[in-house]
Amino acid sequence: MPGDLPPVPGACAPVGPDPTRPSIARVHDYSLGGKDNYEVDRRFFHDILQVAPRMREVSSMTRLWLDRVVRHLVGDVGIDQIVDLGAGLPAVTNIHEIAHQYNREARVVYVDNDPLCCTHGRALLERHAGVRYVQGDLTRPRSLLPEITGHLEPGHPMTVILSGVLHHVPDELGPAGIVRAYAEMLPPGSYFAISHYLDPTDDSAAHRLARELEHRFVDGLGSGWFRTREQIAAYFDGLELVGPGLVELGDWWPYGPALRPRSVEQRLMLGALGRIPILRTR
Ligand SMILES: C[S@@+](CC[C@H](N)C(=O)[O-])C[C@H]1O[C@@H](n2cnc3c(N)ncnc32)[C@H](O)[C@@H]1O
Repeated sequence: MPGDLPPVPGACAPVGPDPTRPSIARVHDYSLGGKDNYEVDRRFFHDILQVAPRMREVSSMTRLWLDRVVRHLVGDVGIDQIVDLGAGLPAVTNIHEIAHQYNREARVVYVDNDPLCCTHGRALLERHAGVRYVQGDLTRPRSLLPEITGHLEPGHPMTVILSGVLHHVPDELGPAGIVRAYAEMLPPGSYFAISHYLDPTDDSAAHRLARELEHRFVDGLGSGWFRTREQIAAYFDGLELVGPGLVELGDWWPYGPALRPRSVEQRLMLGALGRIPILRTR
């Protein structure tokens, strides 16, 4: 499709059901306590736990953040269409289950490029009204979006979730440009909810852990880049940031006070919610 960058060989290639290599989706499922994973995924994650013993908390913290974001958007703002790009394997609480607590008519389109996610997603999630699971590559917005919007109300604002996935998109494919391409095609008043691995770039223990984890992720999974605050902030260029802005996920409208100090691992993820202005300036 004109406008999409040509694919970078090997980049974003999904592993699918291959039991000899760890896959992003299956490792994530294991980190959340799921059962849709193989020995190779569990071994990979246990190696991660050697250097980051509280890494499971990053996955659960991300799902709790998504829970708060979706409740806010569907419950308070009135958003009734959600596209979850890089949705992964069906989880304990899926986006449509949160949305449907507030609006039974809300439509949710899940997208993942891993065929295993789509097989599970179609079997388990599509039985619910208004839910679709599409196999597609989010780095090709101009090819993918028409397929997604075919399941939605055209011209009507929606929320695009990019949680824990842009750090699997290599610099060569320009993750900020990909977000911008979606924003240019979506109606004003649409939202982007993005969470992303952070490299704090100071001389802290968190920075050193980010470098070590990136090395292990890229070596084992082929991707998993920890980017700077400035690089992550660039995803929201041209969008209005919803308060409290780009923050550690635990600081994004927490349900209550922290019950224990935040771990180094939990400091390695930032998230924000941005909105396409009603009056576009560009
Ligand atoms: C770490 S999981 C995140 C799952 C979920 N979004 C969350 O936050 O809990 C990342 C998912 O993104 C998918 N993914 C990676 N690159 C992708 C791409 N280019 N297009 C679509 N999905 C992609 C992976 O297959 C995986 O299921």
